[in-house]
Amino acid sequence: MKLLVTGGAGYVGSVTSRLLLDAGHEVVVLDNLSTGFREAIAPDATFVQADIADAGTVLTPDAGFDAVLHFAGLIAAGESMHKPELYWDHNVQRSLALLNAVRAAGVPRMVFSSTAAVYGNPTELPITETATKAPTNTYGATKLTFDFALTSEAFAHGLAAVSLRYFNVAGALIREDGTAIGERHDPETHLIPITLQVAAGKREKLQIFGDDYPTADGTCVRDYIHVQDLARAHLLALDVAAPGEHKIFNLGNGNGFSNLEVVEAARQVTGAELPVEIAPQRQGDPATLVAGSQKARDELGWIPEKNTLTDMIGDAWAFYRSHVA
Ligand code: UFG
Repeated sequence: MKLLVTGGAGYVGSVTSRLLLDAGHEVVVLDNLSTGFREAIAPDATFVQADIADAGTVLTPDAGFDAVLHFAGLIAAGESMHKPELYWDHNVQRSLALLNAVRAAGVPRMVFSSTAAVYGNPTELPITETATKAPTNTYGATKLTFDFALTSEAFAHGLAAVSLRYFNVAGALIREDGTAIGERHDPETHLIPITLQVAAGKREKLQIFGDDYPTADGTCVRDYIHVQDLARAHLLALDVAAPGEHKIFNLGNGNGFSNLEVVEAARQVTGAELPVEIAPQRQGDPATLVAGSQKARDELGWIPEKNTLTDMIGDAWAFYRSHVA
């Protein structure tokens, strides 16, 4: 297939691009490099530096794209509480411009990076796709809004749409030649990469936001999924996309790990002491997010393979040491 990958310079987009190319697809990456890194883009992809709001310059009716995989977006739940206007602009307004371009060009399929954050504080665990959607942060609200837009688009105009609701992505793609493609944000806000910064001596200590949540050790619980497993799900999503339908899948491995358990696993992997300071709760953080991914297993035939924190933090650490430290 000929594929447009928005956000192909970002973490999940750059890893997925490589798997798509390995599978024989043609990949055009569209990225404005506002948060991504040029060197992360798959070398065999064609790169267009542009905003998703201007996707119409690439998505022309005669360009012959078979699908758009839409990764580009802002992803920091904490930041979204302080700068909501940025999230509504990038994740909704500009994404709707992309959707208009998809329709105008007659692209038949779209796969969208949605999120576990659409559910908010879950009323059931594990969280299935039909669970109540009540986002506790603006980030989740913006992603849910675009999910709704895809449902309408499929109904009204026949788009074959798939939303993949990621839980907490971690790890790196380690290639056979030893190269690693992984997670890098500037500034970094995610727990595992921050932990690695502390392990590498780039930060003095780790702050854990809140130890008074209603969880076993009082810190938030998240379901971590290896980026390689997550990327594979996108290839399967392309196969099941069906005209006029909007299919939605949760992608997690069904195990919850507390923030303190993550820190302990990082101590094991890195051998570093990792001093921890308990800080106030971060606004908008749900206490526990654990995925029910049975639907993805049944309908996509997707089975996550690298499920342990050691797998994920080990690969993230390999990437960190080779690229960031
Ligand atoms: N945390 C800390 N200290 C830090 C950074 C994070 O204690 O320095 C905590 C957070 O408060 C939270 C947990 O670690 O309890 C995980 O936080 P992250 O920022 O790593 O990830 P989030 O769970 O907030 O969000 C991530 C992605 C979202 C996605 C979500 C799905 O950023 O895009 O997972 O579960 F929607």
